[in-house]
Amino acid sequence: MADPVTKERVLEALKRVKAPDLAGDIVAQGLVSEIVIHKGKVYFAISVDPARADELEALRQAAEQAVTSVPGVEAVAVTLTADRAPGGGGNGRGQEAPQGSPFTRPGAARDARHRPGGVPGVEHIIAVASGKGGVGKSTTAVNFAIALTDTGLRVGILDADVYGPSMPRLLGLKGQPQQISGNKLAPMEAYGLKVMSMGFLVDEETPMIWRGPMVMSALSQMLKDVAWGALDVLVVDMPPGTGDAQLTMAQQVPLAGAVIVSTPQDLSLIDARKGLNMFRKVNVPVLGIVENMSTFVCPHCGEPSNIFGHGGARAEAARLGVSFLGEVPLTLAIRETSDAGRPVVATDPSSPGAAAFREIAARALVELERSKGATRQAPRIVVES
Ligand SMILES: Nc1ncnc2c1ncn2[C@@H]1O[C@H](COP(=O)(O)OP(=O)(O)OP(=O)(O)O)[C@@H](O)[C@H]1O
Ligand SMILES: [Mg+2]
Repeated sequence: MADPVTKERVLEALKRVKAPDLAGDIVAQGLVSEIVIHKGKVYFAISVDPARADELEALRQAAEQAVTSVPGVEAVAVTLTADRAPGGGGNGRGQEAPQGSPFTRPGAARDARHRPGGVPGVEHIIAVASGKGGVGKSTTAVNFAIALTDTGLRVGILDADVYGPSMPRLLGLKGQPQQISGNKLAPMEAYGLKVMSMGFLVDEETPMIWRGPMVMSALSQMLKDVAWGALDVLVVDMPPGTGDAQLTMAQQVPLAGAVIVSTPQDLSLIDARKGLNMFRKVNVPVLGIVENMSTFVCPHCGEPSNIFGHGGARAEAARLGVSFLGEVPLTLAIRETSDAGRPVVATDPSSPGAAAFREIAARALVELERSKGATRQAPRIVVES
């Protein structure tokens, strides 16, 4: 049997790949992100100047090939990211490092946001968002969260859509959370996740006419008055748009990052851009973009077709200088399992949809690690098998 794949072997292979300016290799130049290894699959990112993302596709492929040649590696996923603008003081994402800041590593400027005073016991909060409704945020959030538990992390999910909560349906959960000591609510549990949603507290038939301030207090209660316990990641399923709920989350909660969901077509991408810019404005790192409802594979004949187009989100991510986290196919299995409260990652783990969500989760973890910069000790997320 081949020896297990290790970070050291991957780095050794990557030392053979020349940096874009040809002055040394990509490892020596510090362009390689944290490396995540999971069941023979290797995920990492290479920092490049966003203006050169297109021309550096060959570099990405060279890195992919170098790692593919490491014994035991079954698959490699490399993303080009614009985490820093070479030669500039900023980080390439439109966020400048503070004047006179000691932070010089890529993404280190964002460490300031990892302040205490978030949700006790919760290490990282990641928002799943989009500007537009119906693009599959909730479906992505729930499957992404379950995929994170597969890597051994302790994960919760907060349904921040107080107007149209989805988590009870998506997770097949009924009933109400129990009140426990200190006026706290115990979260519900499903598929290894701790779950809280306004849908558990208010009848599904009750129209939700919330005003801005009520939305904010509902959200802050669901964050602070729920006994989440110790969590590595709390995934927040955001409502569509860039309104009160998003702003509350982005301002009041120390978000570790945001994952933006889009469908491949132009209109959805414009909305995704709006969502992305909102997070940038409040200095929340965008971990990357997911293209949902990407290629449709006919369940009968296996023929792929691109109902909503294909590749639009990947191109947009490159243009905006953020990572592309992956494509989720449009499948009947995803729709049916979602509607039946049996998320595809948990109930059909060998399906293409489940594999896509796992890859997205692994890439997002790479981005999360990277965004924390040098000053903070990272939790161990590398799962070596
Ligand atoms: N990849 C996919 N393949 C098939 N169906 C999907 C996929 N992603 C989402 N869906 C379906 O699309 C519908 C909308 O998805 P979802 O509720 O996750 O979107 P949303 O962005 O959260 O919507 P809202 O803006 O209302 O919160 C659901 O019926 C869901 O099952
Ligand atoms: Mg939703």
